Amino acid sequence: MTEAKLISALNEENLSHFPKTYVPSRLLLGPGPSNAHPEVLGALSLNPIGHLDEAYISLMSDVQQLLRYTWQCNNRLTLPMSGTGSAAMEASIANFIEEGEKILIAKKGYFGDRLVDMATRYKADVSVIEKPWGESFSYEEIKYEIETKKPAIFAIVHAETSSGVLQPLDGIGDVCRKNNCLFLVDAVTSLGALELLIDEWNIDLAYSCSQKGLSCPPGLSPFTMNKRAEEKLSSRKTKVPNWYLDLSLLNKYWGSDRVYHHTAPVNMNFAIREGLRLIANEGLENVWNRHNTNAKKLWNGLERLGMELHVSEDYRLPTLTTVKIPPAVDGDGFRNHLLRNFGIEIGNGLGELSGKVWRIGLMGFNSSEENVDRLLNLFDTELKKYSIFESSTF
Ligand SMILES: Cc1ncc(COP(=O)(O)O)c(C=O)c1O
Repeated sequence: MTEAKLISALNEENLSHFPKTYVPSRLLLGPGPSNAHPEVLGALSLNPIGHLDEAYISLMSDVQQLLRYTWQCNNRLTLPMSGTGSAAMEASIANFIEEGEKILIAKKGYFGDRLVDMATRYKADVSVIEKPWGESFSYEEIKYEIETKKPAIFAIVHAETSSGVLQPLDGIGDVCRKNNCLFLVDAVTSLGALELLIDEWNIDLAYSCSQKGLSCPPGLSPFTMNKRAEEKLSSRKTKVPNWYLDLSLLNKYWGSDRVYHHTAPVNMNFAIREGLRLIANEGLENVWNRHNTNAKKLWNGLERLGMELHVSEDYRLPTLTTVKIPPAVDGDGFRNHLLRNFGIEIGNGLGELSGKVWRIGLMGFNSSEENVDRLLNLFDTELKKYSIFESSTF
């Protein structure tokens, strides 16, 4: 064997002293990811099996069945896409938009912007309606816009993680049907945590993620589409311009044929099966109640401490609370203090709310009374140390 001269990325002679991978223990109470459930971590650490092994095929069917329950739908095409929430988000645009087709996007935060960006890249004719970050749209506003703009797709974020707003979806599906338009919903911060009834609300297409309500690590993006969406997909005149996210190809693997498309991230699918099983075990309504109850406890506790919440209670999002950083407080300093000294992560505001609010997530396994108490105690005892004026009142 010839002696190869190996290069070292760090330009050092020997990397053999690299320590074993170590990750500090954290309680993730930010916008996501949330902590994975211990049973999910157990499933994740199992040895991989082949993605066409009959045991794996059977596990895939379990995942689809459990996902249909969690989405509350009977859609044949219900599957977890490989990739984080943005993968299924992009699939929803790539598969259902053809060049020049009209999409109406109701934007009230950062993730509405991402939908606009994606739709523009796929050369849609994009119309946008907008609300300030912290408000929701009314049914009447949406109805009017759909009736006058007549889009092929209407897209909206159910739970806007950047602003902490929960968008009511009642009745919008019916308006879409009457106007021959597909109803697309971003449920990244609501699936498995908040009431979401895909069939009853006539939602044609929806996507989510694994790392929030489903108590898994990031890596999969659950997706579902009904017959109306299937019909639109099969009537495309042009090829889906994204191979990896092409739903007709993915359906050959997740549908009855089980034909190889790409190597499935099998361990993530073990994990999501477990996360979904835990939800089914607890019961979906109990899961929703737990998230609502713990969020209310957090909101009341923060207000008792003199803090102000960014969003009105009528459309405040139970999975993600935006709380105003008091003017006299060093917001980043306090956040870093919680992380470094207590191992607790909360989020900074995103986009235009950066530096104005903290974002506190209570999602999936992390939505517990104990976590709320722990965080409120820290706000009570530690926050005054980060007041610029060293005062305990805000
Ligand atoms: C509402 C919303 N949509 C889309 C996404 C994108 O998901 P991901 O970061 O998993 O790709 C996020 C991420 O947090 C989100 O909160």
